[in-house]
Amino acid sequence: MSFSQEYQQLPTVDKDAGEQESLQRKDPRKRRFPLLVIAIVIIMCASLPCARMIMSRRFWAACHVPQRNTSTLAKLPSHYTLPSGDKIPSVALGVWQASKGEVGNAVKTALTAGYRHIDGAWIYRNEEEVGQVLKASSVPREELWLTSKLWNNFHAPEDIETALDQSLSMLGTNYLDLYLIHWPVAFKKEGNNIMDEDLTADPYPTWQKLEELVDKGKIRNIGISNFNIRRIQNLTANKLKYQPAVNQVELNFWNPQPELLKWSKENGLLLEAYSPLGSNKQVGKSLSVPEVKDIACKLGITPAQVIISWSVQRGTIVLPKSVTPSRIVENLEVFEIPQEDFEMLEKAAASHPPQRVVNPSTGWKLPFDVFDGQ
Ligand code: A2P
Repeated sequence: MSFSQEYQQLPTVDKDAGEQESLQRKDPRKRRFPLLVIAIVIIMCASLPCARMIMSRRFWAACHVPQRNTSTLAKLPSHYTLPSGDKIPSVALGVWQASKGEVGNAVKTALTAGYRHIDGAWIYRNEEEVGQVLKASSVPREELWLTSKLWNNFHAPEDIETALDQSLSMLGTNYLDLYLIHWPVAFKKEGNNIMDEDLTADPYPTWQKLEELVDKGKIRNIGISNFNIRRIQNLTANKLKYQPAVNQVELNFWNPQPELLKWSKENGLLLEAYSPLGSNKQVGKSLSVPEVKDIACKLGITPAQVIISWSVQRGTIVLPKSVTPSRIVENLEVFEIPQEDFEMLEKAAASHPPQRVVNPSTGWKLPFDVFDGQ
């Protein structure tokens, strides 16, 4: 290949360059020019909003790589298959802490955006509003995945079906896709006093009742929530008719629980990640993790999408909560993170002492730590 004349004639080293440069240095007008420009920018910025922008941490932290066309990124599994054969969507709208008056709109936005999985619970006290939106929606019931949870006050055998019926009625459906024991703790009917230590330690009686409700057709799948390995083993040491379909636990950058994840995979138990962004208490901190920001920048996606994608790529269901329409839409889009970045994030998450957002043991005045021994 031959270059044009101009290219060929360009010298690699200009022997006059040094001389030219020294001549320029000697010209005081040229020396003052850059100073003048800087002075003008400073004066302009002092009186303009750009000063605030340049001074803000966000400006310096911002990703300067252009937004990528995400259609070029590989997608992650949209569903997992449970032991029953049912397919559960990998990303759900979590409605814990979505208050009355805003949860309905969140669910409406989510259904329009394509969510088909809503993760709720009786104790969230918003099932009625969720149900109103579901009833008004044109999405057929069989396309939806609805999860609810048995609250701690309803473990007495005679209360379990009544509690489920309440959730069914509020949600406006005659079956749940998934019903979980919310905590491995049984309270008395009123208040937060534990019913008796045996029942708290042994959820088998409750499990048997849930199995009956599966056979009655009121629940399709049953599972557990906030169970550590020891508690799962206590339960599964019994002769169960149905194995737990999932264990819903706190999983996020600050509490990644790699041992529980590994054990669950080895034992065929799917995990569901609640508070994946660190809940409202830690979401800001989660989205500012340097590794998360770097990956977001590299892939041209948002930090929240990096964390939610990481959760699915770890092989868990993920339940991000939001009542903000743009975030609800954003959170459903998960993408495969390149293996080296995935591993970097996994390592970063495991490289600090685990820190939970949710541990009600003290608040409930339990005589033990509910996660003890995990
Ligand atoms: P909001 O509901 O006001 O939109 P988690 O899922 O870990 O429980 O986190 C929920 C918190 O994270 C809420 O405060 C929610 O705010 C916020 N959040 C959810 N999605 C996003 C997002 N994509 N970007 C920033 N914040 C988000």
